[in-house]
Amino acid sequence: MTGVDLSKPLQAEDVAKLRRALLDHLVVALPDQNMSLDDLERLTDALGGRDVTPFVKPLPDRPHVIRILKEPADKLNFANAWHTDLSYLPEPPSFTLLYCLEAPPVGGDTIWANQYMAFETLSAGLQENLLGLRAVHSAGSAYGTGGYLDGVKHLMSTPIEPSKDAYREQIHPAVIAHPETGRSALYLNSVYTARIAGWTHQESQGLLQHIYRHAVNENFTWRLRWAKGTLAIWDNRSTQHFAMNDYHGYRREMVRTSVKGARPERAIRIGEARPH
Ligand code: SIN
Repeated sequence: MTGVDLSKPLQAEDVAKLRRALLDHLVVALPDQNMSLDDLERLTDALGGRDVTPFVKPLPDRPHVIRILKEPADKLNFANAWHTDLSYLPEPPSFTLLYCLEAPPVGGDTIWANQYMAFETLSAGLQENLLGLRAVHSAGSAYGTGGYLDGVKHLMSTPIEPSKDAYREQIHPAVIAHPETGRSALYLNSVYTARIAGWTHQESQGLLQHIYRHAVNENFTWRLRWAKGTLAIWDNRSTQHFAMNDYHGYRREMVRTSVKGARPERAIRIGEARPH
C-alpha cells in the first residue's frame, strides 16, 4: 500500500481503508515510512488498541513494544517457526504491526500462509471433522521455564523472558469464524497448539502433523522482502507466519506491537444456526 504517511495521524477514512485492505489481503506492507515509536503506537491504537506481548521483555517505558533483533554474531533469530501470534491467550491479538529499522542486505524475509485457503482446500470429510474439534494452546514448550527458548536464549538478541506462567493452557476451536469477514479459517499452529482437546498428546500428533504441513503449503503463502522503513501489518485470525533465518553475519532490527483481539469463535457448518 503506498501514498500513506504514517508519521502523521491517519484520518478515520484512511484507517477504514487500511482495515478493509487487511481483511481483503490478510497482510499489508507499507514501504518507505519514517515512523517513530509514538507513530507505531498511535496506529496500533487506531486499529483497536495496544496489547502486551508476554514473555518478551518490552522496550523501556514502552510496555506494548518489543524489539526483534538479530545481531551479526547471533546463531538464532526470533520466530523461526510457523505460528499464529499469541494463540495461547484467551483473547489473542487481532493484528500485529512489525516495522523494520534495519534489514540485512540478503535474506531475513517473513512468509505468511493464508489459513482460509488452508481450510478451504481440505476434503469435505476432514473439514467436517475439524469443525467439531477444539484444541489446547499453550506457550509452555516455547516460553516455559525449561522450554525450548529457555535453552537457546543465549544464542539470540531478542530478550526472551521464560516463565512458568507460559504453561497455562487455553482452548480454542480448531476452525474459527473470522469475526469481521465471517469466513472459516484453520486455527492450529505447531508452536502453540499442544493437542486436540480431549485427546492425548500422542493421539493428536497424527492429525496435527498432517494439518501443520498442509496449512503452510507454498501455494497459500506470500513473502515480504524487508527494507528499512517498511511496516507490515497482518491479520492473526487468518494467517500464520515464519521469519527466515538465512542472513548469518548481518543485522536485522524490527519493532513490533499487537492490536487487542477477541476470544476466537468456532466456525459453523453451512446451514447451522449460530448458538446464542
Ligand atoms: C514475529 O513473529 O512477530 C516476527 C516476524 C519477523 O521477525 O519477521
